[in-house]
Amino acid sequence: MIIKANNLSKVYKGKVQAVKNVTISLEKSKFYAIMGHSGSGKTTLLQLLGLLDKATSGELYIDGENVANLNENEKAKIRMGKIGFVFQAFYLNPKLKAYENVMLPMYINENYRNDDLKEKAMNLLEQLGMSDRAKHYPKELSGGEQQRVAIARSLANNPDCIFADEPTGNLDIENEIIVFEILKKLSREGKCVLVVSHNEIVKKYADKLFYMDKGILREEISNEI
Ligand SMILES: Nc1ncnc2c1ncn2[C@@H]1O[C@H](COP(=O)(O)OP(=O)(O)OP(=O)(O)O)[C@@H](O)[C@H]1O
Ligand SMILES: [Mg+2]
Repeated sequence: MIIKANNLSKVYKGKVQAVKNVTISLEKSKFYAIMGHSGSGKTTLLQLLGLLDKATSGELYIDGENVANLNENEKAKIRMGKIGFVFQAFYLNPKLKAYENVMLPMYINENYRNDDLKEKAMNLLEQLGMSDRAKHYPKELSGGEQQRVAIARSLANNPDCIFADEPTGNLDIENEIIVFEILKKLSREGKCVLVVSHNEIVKKYADKLFYMDKGILREEISNEI
């Protein structure tokens, strides 16, 4: 087990209860999907589980460590080493070439001090079929290609988990499938993959499918035999 949440809740200022008593365990080698209406709390939950935001109540354990006891620095360290993030808007740095974007998170990783970061970045881009685009700037890449660079960047520090919030929200169907196939492959190779998506296609890839409704998370049990 990697991430375990017990009764996690989040109340924003203004008293919006975005996440209500969510209990969930995330393990390696699994693909988890969370679906649900706009405003149901999916992004908030992903940010709580990914240590990007702090819960109002409840417990969160990452590899057995109670996150409540950690300061911001310690949390940032855990995030860097254990969780890679992918977002709908890609968020690539427009001034950096594809491989430089992938190298960026490696610079702050002390474990990589003596490594050839460019080689590491090129290897990741190769895994995603992006070798021939490595020296392009983001604006010279299609949306699908930019998202593949963003996925390579999320893998930069070899995290156990990939958290993706609407990773295909800006893509056409063809690229949507490419991105889901890549995320599925990563889960088969051992990553814990958590995807928030509006897209029904994600159901096909999920080992576990959840629905979020007004902050409440419920697991969808498959009817398939
Ligand atoms: N920073 C914030 N401050 C106050 N309320 C917020 C904040 N962020 C989100 N909310 C509210 O919390 C609720 C859940 O928002 P959240 O972004 O988690 O939903 P979502 O399921 O990801 O929606 P979408 O599918 O549109 O991305 C919404 O009612 C939203 O308005
Ligand atoms: Mg959202």
